[in-house]
Amino acid sequence: MSDFTVRPARADDAPAILILHRKVAALPGGLARQPEEVTADYVAHAMAAASDGGVNLVAVDADGVVCGELHVERMKVGIFTHVLTDLTVAVDPDWQGRGVGSALFRALFEAARALTPPAIRIELWTGATNLGAQRLYERLGFKIEGRMVGRGRYPDGRVEDDIVMGLLLD
Ligand SMILES: CC(C)(COP(=O)(O)OP(=O)(O)OC[C@H]1O[C@@H](n2cnc3c(N)ncnc32)[C@H](O)[C@@H]1OP(=O)(O)O)[C@@H](O)C(=O)NCCC(=O)NCCS
Repeated sequence: MSDFTVRPARADDAPAILILHRKVAALPGGLARQPEEVTADYVAHAMAAASDGGVNLVAVDADGVVCGELHVERMKVGIFTHVLTDLTVAVDPDWQGRGVGSALFRALFEAARALTPPAIRIELWTGATNLGAQRLYERLGFKIEGRMVGRGRYPDGRVEDDIVMGLLLD
């Protein structure tokens, strides 16, 4: 049985979040960033953006080690301020498929409703070949809203479309 908990991220989680994202980025077909693009600066900016009206959550194992992270930021233009966008989620490969991602999203939905003002739309992009992630997001209530053709270009020259997914909270 998996033993983890989800809590809001703290500033002192930054080094662990960096390690986690580097580990996940090293695996093909997951995060958009290559491992060398996962820097302390990237993590600092992501955490700062999320802390400015968005949501930043971590999953920690029984020893308090970060095994998953999710961050999303709030849009700033008036008519879009109910929207959380640019979502990134990463689960340690040793923990994938054990409910961590689902738990992070459930906590996100709760946190989004509790924000002031509440966020009622959440949107994300995922690689067209990342069918596992799309399956999870659809199960959580996200709908496919569009396709951004040729958006991703990998170092090996491979081009991949991005799938736009969105969810409206009740
Ligand atoms: C996608 C991801 C966040 C899901 O978190 P998780 O804790 O593995 O998910 P859960 O255990 O809650 O749910 C399991 C579902 O997640 C999906 N999933 C599981 N492992 C996955 C993986 N390695 N890559 C993509 N999706 C995966 C599947 O839909 C799975 O359901 P299934 O067993 O019916 O196929 C996580 O696997 C991950 O970090 N993958 C690599 C990075 C990535 O793809 N990030 C998302 C970019 S948009």
